[in-house]
Amino acid sequence: MEVIIRDDATAAVNLTARLIAEAMHKKPSTVLGLATGRTMEAVYAELARLHQEEKLDFSLAKTFNLDEYIGLPPENKNSYRYYMNYHLFKNVNIDLRNTHLPNGIADNIDLECENYEKLIAECGGIDLQLLGIGRDGHIGFNEPLSALRSRTRSKSLTPVTFAQNSPLFDRPEDMPKRAITMGVGTVLESKRVLMLVVGEEKSSILAKAVEGPVTSMISATALQLHPRCTVIVDEAAASKLKEKDYYHWIFNNEPDWDPYR
Ligand code: F6R
Repeated sequence: MEVIIRDDATAAVNLTARLIAEAMHKKPSTVLGLATGRTMEAVYAELARLHQEEKLDFSLAKTFNLDEYIGLPPENKNSYRYYMNYHLFKNVNIDLRNTHLPNGIADNIDLECENYEKLIAECGGIDLQLLGIGRDGHIGFNEPLSALRSRTRSKSLTPVTFAQNSPLFDRPEDMPKRAITMGVGTVLESKRVLMLVVGEEKSSILAKAVEGPVTSMISATALQLHPRCTVIVDEAAASKLKEKDYYHWIFNNEPDWDPYR
C-alpha cells in the first residue's frame, strides 16, 4: 500500500483523476471499477473536464460499479445508475452498453450477483478499481463482518451507513436497507486499486484502515493485502495517521517513486 498525502481535497481529487486518465491513455480499453458517493462527484467532474478539454477518450472503456441499492429502478434519482449517468456517463464519450451496474430490481438477486461476477471475468477482470471509504470502514457496501474473500452478493446496510446516506434521499426513510455489492474478494482481484479519502471526518476510520490490523469488521483493511493499492488523501483525512511523516518522506525522497508507473 502507498499513501499519498495532498494539501487539500482538490489536489487529492485531481491526482486521482490524473491517475485514472493515465491508465486510460496506456490502455484505451481499460476496465474501470467505479464507486459513487459524495467524494467521487468531484473526480467525475474532473474526468469530464479532461474529456472535454484534453480529449480523454472513453470510447473503448468498460466500467463496472461496485454497488446498487436493492429496489431502486435506474430512473430513480437515488439509484447509483442514475448517479453514474448524471455525474459521468452523459458527460463523456462512453458507450452506455459498456457501463455496468448490478440491477437492483432483478427478480432473482442471487442470480444477478452471480452473472455480474461472470461478466467482470468475461471482460478480463478490473484493471483499475476506484474506491471511497464509508464511515464504518466499508468499501463498496461491504459492511462489518463481510468475509475478506466475499464475492458480489446482497448485503444489509448498517445504521451507520443509513445515517451517512439517507440524508441524500428526499424522504430519508425511503433509503433501501439492502444493496448488491461486489465482494471484498472481488475488489482484491482488481489489478490496481485507488482509494480516495478526503475530509477530517474520515480521519479516524482512515487511520484504522491503513495502519490498523486486518479485520473483517473494517473491510477497507483488506486493501493492505492488495499488491498494488494507492491511497490518496488530503491533509485533513491524514491527520490521524501515525506514520504520516514517513509517507511524506517517501514522496519527497524516493527518487524512483512514480505514481504514474
Ligand atoms: C458507493 C461506495 C461507498 C462510498 C462510501 C463513501 O458506491 O462504494 O463505499 O465510497 O460510502 O461515500 P461518501 O463519499 O459519500 O462519503
